[in-house]
Amino acid sequence: MKVTIFGTGYVGLVTGACLAEMGNHVVCVDVDQAKVDGLRQGIVPIFEPGLEPIVKRNHASGRLDFTTDPAPAIAHGELIFIAVGTPPDEDGSADMKYVLGVARTIGEHLDGYAVIVNKSTVPVGTADRVRRAVNDVLVERGAAADFDVVSNPEFLKEGDAVEDCLRPDRIVVGASSDRAVARLRKLYAPFNRNHDRMVVMDERSAELTKYAANAMLATKISFMNEIANIAERVGADVELVRQGIGADPRIGYHFIYPGVGYGGSCFPKDVQALERIARGHDYDARLLAMVEAVNADQKTRIYEQISRYFDGHLKGKTVAVWGLAFKPNTDDMREAPSRKLMEALWTAGASVRAYDPEARGETQRIYGEREDLVLCDDAYDALKGADVLALVTEWKTFRSPDFARIKAELGHPAIFDGRNLYDPRAVEDAGIAYYGIGRGRSL
Ligand code: UGA
Repeated sequence: MKVTIFGTGYVGLVTGACLAEMGNHVVCVDVDQAKVDGLRQGIVPIFEPGLEPIVKRNHASGRLDFTTDPAPAIAHGELIFIAVGTPPDEDGSADMKYVLGVARTIGEHLDGYAVIVNKSTVPVGTADRVRRAVNDVLVERGAAADFDVVSNPEFLKEGDAVEDCLRPDRIVVGASSDRAVARLRKLYAPFNRNHDRMVVMDERSAELTKYAANAMLATKISFMNEIANIAERVGADVELVRQGIGADPRIGYHFIYPGVGYGGSCFPKDVQALERIARGHDYDARLLAMVEAVNADQKTRIYEQISRYFDGHLKGKTVAVWGLAFKPNTDDMREAPSRKLMEALWTAGASVRAYDPEARGETQRIYGEREDLVLCDDAYDALKGADVLALVTEWKTFRSPDFARIKAELGHPAIFDGRNLYDPRAVEDAGIAYYGIGRGRSL
């Protein structure tokens, strides 16, 4: 099928590449000329495993192209996806100016019938707003073009995005027109493995489904972090509790890992946005507010432990930080717990030596050159001259370190394990003090 995608950010680029991989002819539109030029040369601006080869392969075969010119791209698309950003504005609600801007652009150039598909995470009611925006421009132009607007939220995880896109567990489609549903069924038919993955509903339910999924996952994490904080105080080990409850299939093992709090571009933004949406409809979503509040506190846990370890005397201390990205397999630093930790350490007069397999460039871009931050080339380099070690992101490379070497390098041999990655006994047997999250040893 002929597909047009507005926005070559995370969602747009992955969706475009995967739809091209399935044999569709995809044109991606972006306002950023440099990005478009780069993509045409196979330069993928984000770190996402497996993405670059499919972008290159499909561009070379002519099934995936990039442009800044919306007119021919709109003429091309039987399906026109909107996958531009919805950054939080000052009050935490999603800023719709890019989505509605694309809607107006579509209205300016649309000719014939197209299905406009909303992939961006948008407030409930956006499909109606997009419909009105397109229609207003069509009326101004006196054009007779016809269109439907569909909500088709995205459930990609960074780091697994290509896999998630090619093998989705469900495809949620909110649509009120049979003609539009038929087009989406045709587009997504190759993605159905074993059974039909498409769940068809009205637009508002589809829009709410996206927020509900992320809010549910965020709630599981905050819930577990709360249990961890209780475990610490009562002398229990949350890792055993986690295994004990995960075995119940109604609870499950996924997303119940306690840690340094959730980060990234989705959970914090979407939980807040959903709370705003509820408030805008006169409902006080207390649970959602607490999910965020527990998470904000959790992001300070590891700093508080380090501070207590040094009796509040952090001035002049150096902390080695392993892992900066908000999770493994990405270079994304948005809302990353490492940032809260480093910023608190700097405010207290401590220095940081950090190592992350991918997020070095992003960290440099955010913080620039500063005396109290040294970005290192490998994990052991980060330990040189450091007093203690904080493990913040559970990259595979940190899983089985040389504890003897860690002990030898650290001025005060102690590991603050923000992801409960290590066996406390193995660490302590190596002569290093161990502080995890909710593991019965509170400081
Ligand atoms: C999340 C959702 O998982 C995707 O389904 C959704 O499509 C996406 O948001 C989105 O809205 O675009 P993502 O932000 O890539 O995906 O990251 P996750 O893998 O969900 O992790 C989010 C955060 O939760 C990370 O900081 C991670 O470390 C933390 N986490 C996750 C925990 O602290 N404990 C867990 O058990 C799981």
